[in-house]
Amino acid sequence: MRKIYAAMLVIAAASTLPFFFACNNETKTTEPEAAMKPNEDSIKRVERGAYLAMHVTGCIDCHSQHDWTKYSGPMVPGTEGKGGEKYDQKLVGVPGVVYARNITPDPETGIGSWSDAEIIRALTQGISKNGDTLFPLMPYAHFNQMAKEDILSIVAYLHTLKPIKNEVPKRQLMLPMMSLAYPPNLKSSIDSNVIPPVSNQVAYGAYMTNAAACLDCHTPMIKGQFDFAHAFSGGLTFQAETFTVTSANLTPDSATGLGSWNEERFLNKFVPYRKEEAYNHVAGKQNTIMPLTFYAGMTDDDLKSIYAFLKTLPPTKHAVEKYPK
Ligand code: HEC
Ligand code: HEC
Repeated sequence: MRKIYAAMLVIAAASTLPFFFACNNETKTTEPEAAMKPNEDSIKRVERGAYLAMHVTGCIDCHSQHDWTKYSGPMVPGTEGKGGEKYDQKLVGVPGVVYARNITPDPETGIGSWSDAEIIRALTQGISKNGDTLFPLMPYAHFNQMAKEDILSIVAYLHTLKPIKNEVPKRQLMLPMMSLAYPPNLKSSIDSNVIPPVSNQVAYGAYMTNAAACLDCHTPMIKGQFDFAHAFSGGLTFQAETFTVTSANLTPDSATGLGSWNEERFLNKFVPYRKEEAYNHVAGKQNTIMPLTFYAGMTDDDLKSIYAFLKTLPPTKHAVEKYPK
């Protein structure tokens, strides 16, 4: 195993410097702005990375502090990337406790001393700088399917975060990582991954749904493994400190899923949370773990594409009660 990791490190390290320019070359065929000066390019990169990390890929959701007195636990401003959120058995079925780590550029307690290749390896292969396999709650199996240009954008954005000194406690797992079969079959290279054209709404929606890891909260589990045969049919229960909530069935079954919804209703699940009034209230037991204030920042078109993709899923009959008595 050691050897494989070492080989991957070498491959990743060898390709780190030319990443930026190599990627520009690649995008030339698909993006008209490829001819831009590097400076404008890097601004675009950071903007795309910020959009993904804040509103799609959940980085800043999981890796910041939340205010759970409010609806859907919005981020405490100024804590972007500092880590420390605790994930345990009750909340998300972790066999033990893991903590979101500090991903700010602080050199001692964050990832300030990591190379880009090491960051990319953690994001897409789930291997920390010291060689440890990361617990798959960190959705690297999803990021492993993202286009390299998007991963590079996220890395560029991480470099712009304010360094925060915050020593995160070490994880305590009751099972050795190797005994966890998920995630399966990670690609050793993400070079061939592409962003589907926006014009192909369903394929693009599938890409965004994967990037947002909707599956991870909305797929039932059997003995700690996702029941992929019933993907997106909901039913995972999350026991937070002040509330307990079960995820919804997102398949197009008309009685128990989103079959009776339309695009407008779907947008309405997210869009209101762009405004503080929508979440700035004490939610008590009727709260949710779904990061609505983060996802609300997705563009209408991106949300619509996710809806278009969800509609193509096989309908699964699975009645779920969000707030069981
Ligand atoms: C669902 C929550 C969640 C999301 C979403 C998430 N992470 Fe993580 N991340 C974690 C947890 C938990 C760990 C620690 C895992 C462990 O200790 O095994 C982690 C670990 C990491 C590490 C390794 C740090 C170290 O010190 O080893 C990096 C880097 C990282 N995440 C970056 C990101 C980025 C960038 C994104 C978005 C593209 C992201 N994470 C999305 C929860 C998340
Ligand atoms: C951290 C876990 C989590 C993630 C990630 C998550 N959800 Fe949810 N979702 C929930 C829970 C729990 C509920 C039930 C409570 C509620 O309505 O918020 C829910 C409810 C919903 C509902 C309401 C359905 C209904 O019947 O009322 C929709 C729609 C939805 N999620 C879509 C999504 C989409 C699309 C994504 C990815 C972009 C996503 N969710 C990601 C946990 C999550």
